[in-house]
Amino acid sequence: MTASDFADRLTATAAETEALLERLLDGATLPGETARPNRLLSAMRHGALGGGKRLRPFLAVESAALFEAPRDGALLAGCALELLHCYSLVHDDLPAMDNDALRRGHPTVHRKFDDATAILAGDALLTLAFDVMTRDEVHADAKVRIALVRALARAAGLGGMAGGQMLDLAAEGRFEQKRALSENDIVTLQAMKTGALIRFACDAGAILGQADAQAAASVARYGAAIGQAFQIADDLLDVEGDSATLGKATAKDAAAGKATLVAVLGIQEARTRLDRLIAEADDALTPFGKKAETLRAAARFVAQRQS
Ligand code: IPE
Ligand code: IPE
Ligand code: MG
Ligand code: MG
Ligand code: MG
Repeated sequence: MTASDFADRLTATAAETEALLERLLDGATLPGETARPNRLLSAMRHGALGGGKRLRPFLAVESAALFEAPRDGALLAGCALELLHCYSLVHDDLPAMDNDALRRGHPTVHRKFDDATAILAGDALLTLAFDVMTRDEVHADAKVRIALVRALARAAGLGGMAGGQMLDLAAEGRFEQKRALSENDIVTLQAMKTGALIRFACDAGAILGQADAQAAASVARYGAAIGQAFQIADDLLDVEGDSATLGKATAKDAAAGKATLVAVLGIQEARTRLDRLIAEADDALTPFGKKAETLRAAARFVAQRQS
């Protein structure tokens, strides 16, 4: 698959994701609710709509396709994950965290609204994610939906994204005197803060398709490799990327004293690492043969993306 064929495919799924998110955030009152504060809904919409590569829903859809699981359910599960990802960005940008003013080319949620509203918008996006994941349209079998909910909770929580964010801030030396992290420490931190949600996107396809243990392990290995690659690429873009193309500020990580592989290994070695991870992702897909062509292209995209 050429890079341009891949880009078209990603764009098409991103448009479907956007339409579905728009529906999920249309403000319609759900059974049992009495009021929906408009300021909070506006902030959630600002944080979730109108931007983003929508890579995680794409991975969920393409991973589900390996197992011939219905596409609609996978897209909805992917949207649940995307809502959670958007929450993580809203909180990541807060003054108490990375203190960023620009996200996806727009003012961050706390800049457009205020800190308290951004915190609540993150909370409400996070809880909406789990609401969506339980919906019948995700999968007819409630056991499958419970497996998805549990896997997402673990990917997002203490041992996953939130835990990784804790390690990321601690590594800046905010809470104790700063000490240099080893390469392994950084790999662990990044596998948690970024890898866990990307791996979940891939695992979700295997869960929806009720894959056997061996196939599920191959998908997980692919997800872990591209998850690691994704953050290395993000850290390289912070150094070498263009803020206007990226839609967020650059040259912030070194200034904040972030623990990154780019800081520890240098740009050249980080690039080599990226190439190795893409080869690893490719290798993990071997059992799926030609069926995994799109996921192979997704791995290359992760390494080569400019935004
Ligand atoms: C940014 O994620 C945060 C990281 C995990 C590095 P993305 O690069 O996927 O952000 P969007 O969703 O496309 O804006
Ligand atoms: C963010 O990592 C990881 C999250 C869990 C949101 P970064 O802090 O490097 O992401 P950007 O660069 O702000 O998008
Ligand atoms: Mg951060
Ligand atoms: Mg950040
Ligand atoms: Mg970054």
